[in-house]
Amino acid sequence: MTFDFDRRSKSLWMDVAVAPEASPLSGDRSCDTVIIGAGIAGISTAYELATQGQKVIVIDRGRIAGGITARTTAHLAPLCDDLTSEMIKLRGDDISRAFYESHAAAIDRIEEIQKKHGIACDFRRLDGFLFQALDTDPKIIDEEFDAVCKIGAPVHRIVGVAFEHCDAQHALKYPQQATFHPLKYLRGLAEEIVGRQGQFYAGTAVSEIAENEDGTVTVKSDGGLVTARAAVVATNSPISNLFTLHTKMAPYRSYAMAFEIRAGGLPDALYCDTLDPYHYVRLQPGDQQKNYVIVGGGDHKSGEADDAGLRFGALDAWARNLIPALGEETHRWSGQVLETIDYAAFIGRNPGNDNIYVHTGDSGPGITHGVVGSLLNSALILGKKARWTDVYEPGRKTPMAAGNFLKENLTAVKNFAEYLAPGELKSFDELKPGTGAIIRQGVSKCAAYRDKSGELLVRSAACTHIGCHLNWNSFETCWDCPCHGSQFAVDGTALNAPAVASLDLMEDKH
Ligand SMILES: Cc1cc2nc3c(=O)[nH]c(=O)nc-3n(C[C@H](O)[C@H](O)[C@H](O)COP(=O)(O)OP(=O)(O)OC[C@H]3O[C@@H](n4cnc5c(N)ncnc54)[C@H](O)[C@@H]3O)c2cc1C
Ligand code: FES
Repeated sequence: MTFDFDRRSKSLWMDVAVAPEASPLSGDRSCDTVIIGAGIAGISTAYELATQGQKVIVIDRGRIAGGITARTTAHLAPLCDDLTSEMIKLRGDDISRAFYESHAAAIDRIEEIQKKHGIACDFRRLDGFLFQALDTDPKIIDEEFDAVCKIGAPVHRIVGVAFEHCDAQHALKYPQQATFHPLKYLRGLAEEIVGRQGQFYAGTAVSEIAENEDGTVTVKSDGGLVTARAAVVATNSPISNLFTLHTKMAPYRSYAMAFEIRAGGLPDALYCDTLDPYHYVRLQPGDQQKNYVIVGGGDHKSGEADDAGLRFGALDAWARNLIPALGEETHRWSGQVLETIDYAAFIGRNPGNDNIYVHTGDSGPGITHGVVGSLLNSALILGKKARWTDVYEPGRKTPMAAGNFLKENLTAVKNFAEYLAPGELKSFDELKPGTGAIIRQGVSKCAAYRDKSGELLVRSAACTHIGCHLNWNSFETCWDCPCHGSQFAVDGTALNAPAVASLDLMEDKH
């Protein structure tokens, strides 16, 4: 049985195909730069290099732009979503200012590219609002106002936002933020890349990236080898190193829903509240005069909850309380973000390499991070002056983030203790069709799934990255690893990096 990627949750964007003609790689190739991972980071980097004369190859193990980018909500907001006041505490004023400037430059770059090539992707500039959640203290708004003023970003202190019950809520208004349809934008970029002899290969899993003695790079995939002068690992979570970067970030799952909304039902803007985890809201024009409102939130650490239904229910109730014009639900989906311990991504040369570059640690603003990464990594590859290297240097140490480092890495320690716990079910016979559970077999733990026709699939419950214990994700029908965010299909295929190899087959002794 082969896992169907579309059986996972479906977002509002997924009907748009990006580079649908891309086929699996078959045979060896060479190029200037090979990019592994075709999300916003990989495709944007390929675009920057291809438009500056490089021959690029982009490889993805799934569909092109079928990863987390297809599950985004695409608020293009240039400020740290963990709050600028928090970022200043960890990294100071100058780095926080440079962070803001780099994300603002990324939004400018998206605007420039879609305009230049006439990409119809619903790009628009609009206001963003951070508003005091109901029944909370407005102090956070004051602190954030001071922090944002300190780094020189445009902001207005206001009272009241356009939601029901929110006339008296304190808020910050950020002018000139933006939004778009992410896959329509990437479809346009992919066409420009292909028009410059760039090549896309879908359904091609990369297993190894190595630097050769002569400085070239060889990428090994299940379809053949690609030799290049440089490689960019843009697999969301890096497959180019086992530990270094993974200990400095942690996977969180977020949930989003789309609802119909009548024209004029809510002003077109970006909205976030001050809760932790926060709610986020935006509008999206649809076809045939339908408009949608997208509502997100309900975040938790990956693999530590399997209650998507409850989270969607809470999002629905929250949205209906605040947005009376909310219509029928049309989509619900979830995805993962990698939160770094100091709020900025890791972009640049992969630690220990000269010609392998990495982009990871997307955090909340992962779309703009992806575009920042394309500007920074393409400049490094082309030997140009790269901006913002001190913000994003992958090997950086942030002493003030030691508390976050310890907190996030405790997950792995706790996780290994799960191998000692009993299974969730005593035997395979208890497993109902369409469900998965962890079952003990002697000293081993199995990840067992029974499909709707009754067929049983039994795989090892040990993640193939570095062995953490997997948990069942009933909403996406797959296995989640809480340590660094790998996901596996019920047949054991790795779906999400950093894992590359499939889960081991287990004999089912039921
Ligand atoms: C619900 C939700 C809401 C969000 N909202 C926002 C928002 O409002 N604003 C914002 O800026 N960001 C937002 N984000 C974050 C943002 O969407 C992501 O950070 C971003 O899309 C990640 O892009 P990427 O290119 O790094 O990864 P991806 O899009 O996941 O691309 C990586 C690709 O690498 C491929 N790959 C992995 N391993 C291999 C391998 N071994 N071989 C070959 N290919 C491989 C994958 O198949 C995948 O296609 C949100 C995320 C979620 C989940
Ligand atoms: S993702 Fe690292 S152990 Fe699973």
